[in-house]
Amino acid sequence: MTKSWMRFLFWFAQEHVDFRHAEIESLTQLFGIKWNLQPLVHKEQPFWIVELPDENSARIIASRSISLRCIIHLWSHASSVTNLHENTRNYIKENFNDVNHFFSPDKSFKITVETYNKHFSQKEKIEKIETFDYLPFRGEVELKTPDVEWWYIEYYGLNPRDVPPQPFDVLFGRWIVDGQRNLIKEMSLKKRKFIGNTSMDTQLSLLMANQAKVKQGDFVFDPFVGTGSLLVSAAKFGGFVIGADIDYMMIHAKSRPSRITQKQREKDESIRANLEQYNCADRYVDVIVSDFSNPIWNDRIRFDSIITDPPYGIREATAKIETKISQKPDTRTEDSPHYPSTSHYSLANLYADLLTFAAKHLTMNGRLVCWLPIHNDDYTEDQIPKHPCLKLIANSNQPLSAATARRLLTYEKVFEVDERSSDESAVILGDFRQRYFEFGEETRKERRMRRAELREIGRQEALKRGKTIDENGKVIKNK
Ligand SMILES: C[S@@+](CC[C@H](N)C(=O)[O-])C[C@H]1O[C@@H](n2cnc3c(N)ncnc32)[C@H](O)[C@@H]1O
Repeated sequence: MTKSWMRFLFWFAQEHVDFRHAEIESLTQLFGIKWNLQPLVHKEQPFWIVELPDENSARIIASRSISLRCIIHLWSHASSVTNLHENTRNYIKENFNDVNHFFSPDKSFKITVETYNKHFSQKEKIEKIETFDYLPFRGEVELKTPDVEWWYIEYYGLNPRDVPPQPFDVLFGRWIVDGQRNLIKEMSLKKRKFIGNTSMDTQLSLLMANQAKVKQGDFVFDPFVGTGSLLVSAAKFGGFVIGADIDYMMIHAKSRPSRITQKQREKDESIRANLEQYNCADRYVDVIVSDFSNPIWNDRIRFDSIITDPPYGIREATAKIETKISQKPDTRTEDSPHYPSTSHYSLANLYADLLTFAAKHLTMNGRLVCWLPIHNDDYTEDQIPKHPCLKLIANSNQPLSAATARRLLTYEKVFEVDERSSDESAVILGDFRQRYFEFGEETRKERRMRRAELREIGRQEALKRGKTIDENGKVIKNK
């Protein structure tokens, strides 16, 4: 261990596991915190042992982390219960002057028992607590708001069908701070003023803002803003936010409501209202109707980050404004807005435009955070779009179905455009939408897989809207 550093246990929620490392890496960079991660037995395990310079560093990381349940100052770690108690006794003996005050008579306390992958009754948990009778407690037990909270963890691995009789890891320490998982509920889409079919899940939106290293006063842009979920999370972390979308009806909250219980949109639904709901209306800059394939931005404009969920062409069309001479005549009147002709905007062109735009309009070291849909069968790292001015920082996978997934890509601007030769352009990737919708050459197996994918997307959206799903994955109708 680095001299005088402290050892912490990072206890994670078992969700979006592939996003953890990227999040903690982004946050430690954002706050300039040095850290060492002890080697992991398994990338999916719910805890990490991390060395940090001090307790304050742990508090700062937790002040933004969405993946973390909590951080514990680790006093002892062993591979058997007997050794754990021996290590804890030694720790107290060796650090008596530093730890004695935690046991003083004016400090109430509690011991939380967490057993991972094995259930124990309350009575069994109390028996485990009683094995700590050698700890020199002098304060009162207080279960709700203790001054000091100890955590005792037994870890029985990840496989629910192969639970060992004894835990693999046993850990003990003092709770320091919780992560920000409370925001997932507080900002849930279920209670959000304005949502649509493609509103991004709250947890992922917050993770995206962390990937973008959004901080107080940053200028953040979402070019495919939809209902503004990504602006909400960026604003929550202090960014001034601006968005654009091709869809006039969406951006003005006039599209069909997506809540099954809602027939008509309320008059006061808007992206600004969403920000007001979370007390960050002062971070709202604007949203504008604009086709991304035809950018309107002055060359000098710079964003600290671009956070976006481009259309994949499954739930919403990938469209751009038609520029052919054969455009429909302008039918604009006072009460009916003009809808220009649109044509298909291929994913390859869209991502090439996105990276080119980011290379030009990000501040140096600013980040682009965006999703890329993939087919698991033929995914290789070569499909990740590249740009000579952007460095790929993270690439995390979210499975959507057996056949498909999407990857959250984080790029950082490392060169100005004029520092690289102009013939080095973004690499173009294959068209995902084509794989989904060109049925001609599809085999029966592929067709089955595609149906399963669409069912899964429908299921996820139903869950998002607070519907209940039965064990066969069917939405239970309201009575
Ligand atoms: C996946 S949705 C974004 C959802 C958004 N993150 C939210 O939370 O609601 C993609 C959005 O891109 C918009 N879009 C499609 N083509 C576009 C284009 N050429 N320029 C700008 N926006 C476009 C769609 O109208 C849609 O609102």
